[in-house]
Amino acid sequence: MTIASLSTYVPPRVLTNADLEKLVDTSNEWILQRTGIHERHIVDPGVTTSDLAKEAATEAISRAGLTPDDIGLIVVGTVTPDMLFPSTACLLQNKIGASRAWGFDLSAACSAFTYSLTTATQIVAAGGTDHALVVGADVMSSIIDYRDRTTCVLFGDGAGAVVVSAADSQSANVILDFEHEIDGSGSHALFMPAGGSARPASHETVDQRMHYVKQDGGTVFKFAVRKTEEVARRLLERNGLTPESLDLFVSHQANRRIIMSATEKLGVPQEKVIINIERFGNTTAATIPLALNDAMLSGRLKKGNLVLLASVGAGFTVGAVLLRWGI
Ligand SMILES: CC(C)(COP(=O)(O)OP(=O)(O)OC[C@H]1O[C@@H](n2cnc3c(N)ncnc32)[C@H](O)[C@@H]1OP(=O)(O)O)[C@@H](O)C(=O)NCCC(=O)NCCS
Repeated sequence: MTIASLSTYVPPRVLTNADLEKLVDTSNEWILQRTGIHERHIVDPGVTTSDLAKEAATEAISRAGLTPDDIGLIVVGTVTPDMLFPSTACLLQNKIGASRAWGFDLSAACSAFTYSLTTATQIVAAGGTDHALVVGADVMSSIIDYRDRTTCVLFGDGAGAVVVSAADSQSANVILDFEHEIDGSGSHALFMPAGGSARPASHETVDQRMHYVKQDGGTVFKFAVRKTEEVARRLLERNGLTPESLDLFVSHQANRRIIMSATEKLGVPQEKVIINIERFGNTTAATIPLALNDAMLSGRLKKGNLVLLASVGAGFTVGAVLLRWGI
């Protein structure tokens, strides 16, 4: 299997730290120092996750030299579907005109891209289809409480898409290995309390602001540092590789300090670590494709490079994918 193309999209509107200073009791200095974030993109009212996904997906299909009709499977990783049902994959399928595709949404929060990539790769590897579209897209601004300074500074909106294709020759086999975990004992460290079957929407849930992200930041921070390092180390060791042998380490972008701590513990040289959180914040399912895209544009990611993707997200969800970059 090979990643045949990559494309990303963020909405044009920028929300800076200075803008947030006007909404909550925070400062540019605090946000930059504690998170590494300078600005993030957010949608205008009415723009949905499938709208962002469509922009990234259409371009990814075209860059792969394909048409929407060539796509046999669509996996959309998201924690902000347009609605609870139908799936955003269905809405996207219709918007891009992928008339021969089936597909589904995958809920793994910030690990949605690594999970979706692994899932699609396995289906392609099993002969289920020749071309799968993998999208990570989130409109986090739709579930963020812009009165809560502990969460509203962290998140942004965005989308990224790759086409995973069956390759003819073994040499083009770029998805080398993967490792995933879930740990539901951490479910209350990062969650949205209402809107599901546990607490259906009511006047009370709205009044109590329960349709927004709630987070115990310290618990998530420690888990993310520990697990990013652990899952990456396990995957490298299993493949007889050292951290130094990697060309690029692409972590989910949640906090600059999480990425720095995890990669220092792991022993990846900092020049091999991509961090672009300053411009986008945490876009949940979209951070890894956005980071890959920046790495490609800046010449830090080239065809044949050995790349490790790693993510930790709400759930908790943990993922890592080892690949040889094929574009
Ligand atoms: C949220 C996070 C940035 C907070 O950073 P931190 O260094 O842990 O800060 P703390 O939570 O210890 O808070 C320190 C102080 O800053 C305050 N603070 C929190 N957010 C603030 C903000 N935006 N501006 C100013 N002060 C803020 C806190 O209220 C606290 O004040 P107190 O000591 O008077 O109670 C950090 O915990 C984090 O990044 N966690 C992981 C989040 C994450 O990655 N989520 C997604 C996972 S996929």
